[in-house]
Amino acid sequence: MLQKTMKKLFLAILLMGSISLTAQPGTSKITIHADQGKTVINKEIYGQFAEHLGKCIYGGIWVGENSPIPNIKGYRTDVFNALKELQVPVLRWPGGCFADEYHWMDGIGPREKRPKMVNNNWGGVVEDNSFGTNEFLNLCEMLGCEPYLSGNVGSGTVEELAKWVEYITSDGDSPMAKLRRQNGREKPWKLKYLGVGNESWGCGGNMTPDYYSDLFRRYSTYCREYDGNQLFKIASGASDYDYKWTETLMKNVGDRMKGLSLHYYTVKGWDGSKGSATKFDKADYLWTMGKCLEIENVVKKHITIMDKYDPQRKVGLLVDEWGTWWDQEPGSHPGFLYQQNSLRDAFVAALTLNIFNKYTERVKMANIAQIVNVLQAMILTDGPKMVLTPTYHVFNMYKVHMGATYLPLDIQCDSLSTGDRKFASVSASASKNAKGQIHITLANINPDKEQKIILDLANVKISKVSGTILTAKTIDSYNTFDQPNVVAPAAFKEAKVSKNGLTVTIPAKAIVSLELL
Ligand code: AHR
Repeated sequence: MLQKTMKKLFLAILLMGSISLTAQPGTSKITIHADQGKTVINKEIYGQFAEHLGKCIYGGIWVGENSPIPNIKGYRTDVFNALKELQVPVLRWPGGCFADEYHWMDGIGPREKRPKMVNNNWGGVVEDNSFGTNEFLNLCEMLGCEPYLSGNVGSGTVEELAKWVEYITSDGDSPMAKLRRQNGREKPWKLKYLGVGNESWGCGGNMTPDYYSDLFRRYSTYCREYDGNQLFKIASGASDYDYKWTETLMKNVGDRMKGLSLHYYTVKGWDGSKGSATKFDKADYLWTMGKCLEIENVVKKHITIMDKYDPQRKVGLLVDEWGTWWDQEPGSHPGFLYQQNSLRDAFVAALTLNIFNKYTERVKMANIAQIVNVLQAMILTDGPKMVLTPTYHVFNMYKVHMGATYLPLDIQCDSLSTGDRKFASVSASASKNAKGQIHITLANINPDKEQKIILDLANVKISKVSGTILTAKTIDSYNTFDQPNVVAPAAFKEAKVSKNGLTVTIPAKAIVSLELL
């Protein structure tokens, strides 16, 4: 019996991959178990989030057809093209906190007739509802991504949410389908992902988990599946370390929900200064790495609770808000959460995505906050100007993992530490796509020392390797509208084919992606 348990434990460790902090300083070994891939990396892990917040929608994505800024049917062309390149798999909208005050019927029909509202969560600005359901779903269609709607439970009615689903997905002679047709859209859209509330423990209604569980059961009952559309209903989940919320939802709701969300920000705290996005020292950098990597333990603990109630892993964990949260840029609107994005943010993206890949069996989706001009954005805009952030480049380098089979790996490397946190100086992920190509993403977190990494792939025959590197002079380097390529990807030539795999030398503070042929 004991032997069996030990064997199971050993197998589990092998399949999950492990990290040991034992190597010579500056030298690491990564063993990739290319023959043990079992689980496909959900492409939705590379998802995005767009909220009616600051200049995310207005100015960032949507400028309207009559804007002097070049646009395709009102969507700014430069941003649209950059997002198309990323192959965004899923886009969450309209919030965030905004979602629980949003009344979708205000955002349909002729734009000049749409009622206005106050965006109470984000700066008290007037929202004119010119970007609504049709504009969002058409954008998703043009990008080729799945829409993920966040429904209003905090201040909306069951009827309102039920009718939203009918408006979007019903093909019949139903009242909402007729309304959609009047608004110029004949055929329904497909809607898979439906969030039932957002942060229901906070801005979404300040509820207790028991009360919210009942509301989830009630609201979701009336969200029907019309004409072959299948909904993946997502319950509003915990923040960070709130394991009680997860436990209660799993107990009360079980597999009535297809997904349970989790929000985890790399943030110093919710009161007072969160620190500057661009002015920081090495200690701040290491703290950020430690806090970001802590998401692995948090995810593991939520998964352990979910496993207790749902051992077959029917319910997905969806980290539908994550990323860095710094002080807003000096001079920007206090409620707009506009922040710069440095090489440090690129590391947060790289490390977090490596972790999500590893837990892909339970982590079915993740949505970085947010896509344009808000928090850890892919893209920043200023009037007609646009710049790609270091985080954008990470997503572009990592997109090869989407839909590929996760390959377990073990890392032996030296460690870094900050306060009570000690962590591996190297982070990695590997996958094999349908064509049999292996992709490896690696990050050398050490801000000062290069890493020589021996990659052991045992029986994999490698004839060629090509790579891309993302680094910069300093860890606080960032791109501006005038200097957009301070942190930009470049060809990486320091990977050499060796007897059992590869030898790779990665400079300090660099992120690398490799393709093996
Ligand atoms: O992403 C910004 C805000 O952070 C979201 O609106 C909310 O859900 C979270 O607190």
